[in-house]
Amino acid sequence: RTIAIVCGGDSSEHDVSLRSAQGLYSFFDKERYNVYIVDIKGQDWHVELPDGTTAKIDRNDFSFMENGEAKIFDYAYITIHGTPGENGLLQGYFDLIGLPYSTSGVLVEAMTFDKFVLNQYLRGYGVKVADSLLIRKGYEELVSDDEIEERIGMPCFVKPAADGSSFGVSKVKEKDMLAPAIRKAMLESPEIMVESYLEGTEISIGVYKTKEKAVVLPATEVVTSNEFFDYDAKYNGQVQEITPARLPEDVTERVRQITSHIYDILHCNGIIRIDFIISKEGSISMLEVNTTPGMTATSFIPQQVRAAGLSMTDVLTEIVENQFD
Ligand code: DAL
Ligand code: MG
Repeated sequence: RTIAIVCGGDSSEHDVSLRSAQGLYSFFDKERYNVYIVDIKGQDWHVELPDGTTAKIDRNDFSFMENGEAKIFDYAYITIHGTPGENGLLQGYFDLIGLPYSTSGVLVEAMTFDKFVLNQYLRGYGVKVADSLLIRKGYEELVSDDEIEERIGMPCFVKPAADGSSFGVSKVKEKDMLAPAIRKAMLESPEIMVESYLEGTEISIGVYKTKEKAVVLPATEVVTSNEFFDYDAKYNGQVQEITPARLPEDVTERVRQITSHIYDILHCNGIIRIDFIISKEGSISMLEVNTTPGMTATSFIPQQVRAAGLSMTDVLTEIVENQFD
């Protein structure tokens, strides 16, 4: 089969996505699959060819020309973080042209990419989440700083409702710092979220499905001396990542179960990663669902797969083959 690793995209996470694509390329079984990297940004969609040149992707059918011959893909592995790969846009396009892909479908992608919508939805199923308020650019006066302090409390997090890698995220400790934090988050997205601060240990768990079973990977615990697990902590090593997380056995068991339930409730597909905060008392709150989790050299999924005694190459093969009979 011929596989496109689809990367790039139009968000602040563009470069992270290129690094994820490199990671994935190194893991795919190249004896079994012809693997190409397809970089899409705005209207520029191109594929990298083995000879170091690039070819334009024909958007009618995602095909390209190589050595004078039209080539088509059998499968798209989407590793764009942010729009259009993590919010349903590309999924809708691939549905229309009939190309199987690695992620969940249009609705699930759109819903999980909006942290507020996801929180409300999962809350309906009894999943614990932080309290939050939404603020839209141009409508800031709907909620005053006093009200935020009263309803959400301090410290709190201000974050774009739809983004990743902690771009535009601030931890706010005093009311005076709300306005600049809101302005910063609004540079990333017109819809921002003020979320209550949950005290506890941050963990992250990967999960995927094969034809036969759900595989919940070992949790990774995040220990950072930064204010929170920000961009530097994520990609510049200012963090200690402990896999498996040091949690009591019963808490580990419960959080693994919640991870698997969320995957099912949302009808996810492919490998996803869910972030949680575990309080000292063992209470488990969900932070977010990442449907195109990072695959860079420092990302969690490859670490967790190794810790589980599995190989990324085999896991990717299982995920691809899951899509075919
Ligand atoms: N948004 C980043 C890539 C992640 O969740 O891994
Ligand atoms: Mg994320």
